[in-house]
Amino acid sequence: MTVKDFGITKDGIATKLYTLKNNNLEISVTDFGSTLVSIVVPDRNNKPTDIVLGYDDVSGYETDDGYYFGCNVGRCANRIARGHFVLNNTEYNLDINNGPNNLHSGLNPYSKRVWTVENQNDTSITFSLESPHMDQGFPGALKMYVTYELLEDGFKINYNATPDKDTIINVTNHSYFNLNGEGSGTVLNHSVKIYADSFTPADETSIPTGEIEAVKDTPMDFNNFKTIGQDINKNYIPLKYANGYDHNWVLATAGDVDRTAVRLVSPETGICLSVRTTEPGIQIYSGNFLDGTIKGKGEIVYNPRTGICLESQHYPDSPNKPQWPSTVLRPGETYQSVCIYGFSIAE
Ligand code: GAL
Repeated sequence: MTVKDFGITKDGIATKLYTLKNNNLEISVTDFGSTLVSIVVPDRNNKPTDIVLGYDDVSGYETDDGYYFGCNVGRCANRIARGHFVLNNTEYNLDINNGPNNLHSGLNPYSKRVWTVENQNDTSITFSLESPHMDQGFPGALKMYVTYELLEDGFKINYNATPDKDTIINVTNHSYFNLNGEGSGTVLNHSVKIYADSFTPADETSIPTGEIEAVKDTPMDFNNFKTIGQDINKNYIPLKYANGYDHNWVLATAGDVDRTAVRLVSPETGICLSVRTTEPGIQIYSGNFLDGTIKGKGEIVYNPRTGICLESQHYPDSPNKPQWPSTVLRPGETYQSVCIYGFSIAE
């Protein structure tokens, strides 16, 4: 483990960048937001390649305006319709920050706070954050833990929390992957396989309709490898509404972390990423809103579709969809969510 200064926040807090390394990969994370800043893996010619978008120091993450590079999004990731839900007969209202809806829990995200380092060693680091009762509008205080742990050929993110009152929780990591190397053009040539027979169609504001729809014979079918670019511009309503891929797939793995949920492969570098998760769904977002106005690492401009997010999570708007896997967490229960990223090189 190496530790470097990552810059000082506007409030004068000194942040750090922690790097964990083994023979196969290196990841760097900061206590600002517990954010994943880089993943460096060798390509097929052994060239070290940083495969996630981000910024060079804390000021970029602090001023980030709605991109959430590498963030752990909580307390409830994705959209909540009209920023409103009912729990135990009580109505709760959250910030409206995305059209008519709440996105990624609103204007005071976990990703813009400085987290505490609870534990660190050569292979793992645990951050924690105290989230009080009514933080972002959610009931119940909880202490959120995020652990990054190096594995031989990848790494694991583990989320944990226990509330003191009934609450809602759904945490995910929002890294934008580009297996050609961050800052090197679009991800449209990446091949993807998603182990899912259905997805949750949504309205124009990306709120699921509540239906579960088969992917068969639609552009949403990635059961056989195909490139992200192959169908992305098809005249298909879900793609038009979302301006590309930005949908939740209902994973056939159904929370089995031993089974692969998604594979992503770059034909250029040969880098392959596999994702496994305890979560029932994955939001796959093809960076449609990266608009060429943001400068990321090394002052490189990030244009549309230059990164893809693979956000393991419960389905969007679950607090308003009682028929779906529940995001309610009660005192005495422990929230645990695991996402494992594995790396290899294509033959
Ligand atoms: C994703 C979401 C996208 C977009 C992005 C942040 O999780 O699905 O619609 O809002 O976050 O820019």
